[in-house]
Amino acid sequence: MKLAFIGIGNVGFAIAHKLQQKGHEITIATNDPNSRSVTSALKKNENMTTRSIQDAIGWAEVVFLAVPFGAVKAVVNEIDFEGKTLVDCTNPVGPGISHGLNCEISGSEKIQAWAPSAKVVKAFTIYGYENLQDASFSNYPNKPVMLVAGDDQYAKEQLKPLVEEMGYMYKDIGALDQSLHLEHMTLLWVKMVRRDGHHPNFVWGYMER
Ligand SMILES: NC(=O)c1ccc[n+]([C@@H]2O[C@H](COP(=O)([O-])OP(=O)(O)OC[C@H]3O[C@@H](n4cnc5c(N)ncnc54)[C@H](OP(=O)(O)O)[C@@H]3O)[C@@H](O)[C@H]2O)c1
Repeated sequence: MKLAFIGIGNVGFAIAHKLQQKGHEITIATNDPNSRSVTSALKKNENMTTRSIQDAIGWAEVVFLAVPFGAVKAVVNEIDFEGKTLVDCTNPVGPGISHGLNCEISGSEKIQAWAPSAKVVKAFTIYGYENLQDASFSNYPNKPVMLVAGDDQYAKEQLKPLVEEMGYMYKDIGALDQSLHLEHMTLLWVKMVRRDGHHPNFVWGYMER
């Protein structure tokens, strides 16, 4: 698939690099091709290209958003997403690792409001980037789960094979308003690991009978 990445730092690069290795075409959607993260990404993976944000969206089948939440509104403002799937990898994190929107609404729903021409799907947020670089847990029978929320079924179906190629079990948890709960799962992971010293290579599993 043709995949565009707005934001190619820890999270964007981990996903883009993995999916490029699986045979997908990757472009970095940026209006600053000389930025620190773009330069670093192109040095680590020469198969990625760059395009302006609007050009990249026209080219791509799926667009990933992986910039700091505080930058999102300005980044998506006045961009025509042309009805494309926009994978929201961001987390609104406030002071003291709190929910940055006071737990009232998810960041994903805000992004959908700021980018009405996109089909927003929340994914790849419930772990640190370490588990996006490598999702293999070979000593366990089940794969780590990737919980995915969104209002548009086709957008989620587009994402499913990408999630699976990254090494995860794909689980559709319903509409975009479920993202608020994913964002709290993220805060749980972040507080456990970044604040309290748990090992970063730990993931959530889904079991059903
Ligand atoms: N770190 C994690 O473990 C983790 C896990 C899951 C989700 N997330 C979420 O994923 C998002 C990205 O996190 P990250 O750790 O990948 O951050 P990061 O390593 O700092 O990378 C941020 C990326 O966004 C770009 N960017 C920053 N400000 C921008 C702006 N105003 N306009 C356009 N681009 C801008 C940066 O480009 P420059 O080169 O110009 O700086 C860089 O490519 C955040 O929302 C975070 O909450 C993080």
